[in-house]
Amino acid sequence: MVRVLFVCLGNICRSPMAEGVFRHLVAQRELSAHITTDSAGTSRYHIGEPPHHGTLQILHQNGIQLQHAARQFTRADAERFDLLVAMDSDNISDMQHVFPHGQAPEIHYLLDFIPDGPRGRGVPDPWYTGDFDAVYQLVAAACHGLLEHIVHEHL
Ligand code: 4NP
Repeated sequence: MVRVLFVCLGNICRSPMAEGVFRHLVAQRELSAHITTDSAGTSRYHIGEPPHHGTLQILHQNGIQLQHAARQFTRADAERFDLLVAMDSDNISDMQHVFPHGQAPEIHYLLDFIPDGPRGRGVPDPWYTGDFDAVYQLVAAACHGLLEHIVHEHL
């Protein structure tokens, strides 16, 4: 079993979008028994809330249903998940601060899974840009690449 956790700031826009897209791709490949997916936020801002309307709308337009209640990333998530996948560099430094010095786990940038793309690139935050469509294109491309990575390296 490979367990994947997507992390952003609020856990209402980007990481639940990635969770929905990725779980959908996993189901299409009939790998749901082998790969599980969740998402979390580094902040406490929206704990318990459903995903943002813009995230639910773009997922729905692409035939994807998602039920998720926002929650905060914790140190225990490093034990409970095999792959920690962050949306931007702020998420990574906020996640690292949850751990004692020098004990932070490996954390990946989501967009690093786009083949041949630039490294260390962040997913723009639609909470500020309002552009859920552009974010969806990036998230979908990276989720395809992430699934290929897992199939080749982890299964
Ligand atoms: P997310 O977007 O990290 O992609 O869920 C945000 C959601 C809420 C806030 C910031 C970013 N906020 O400041 O409340």
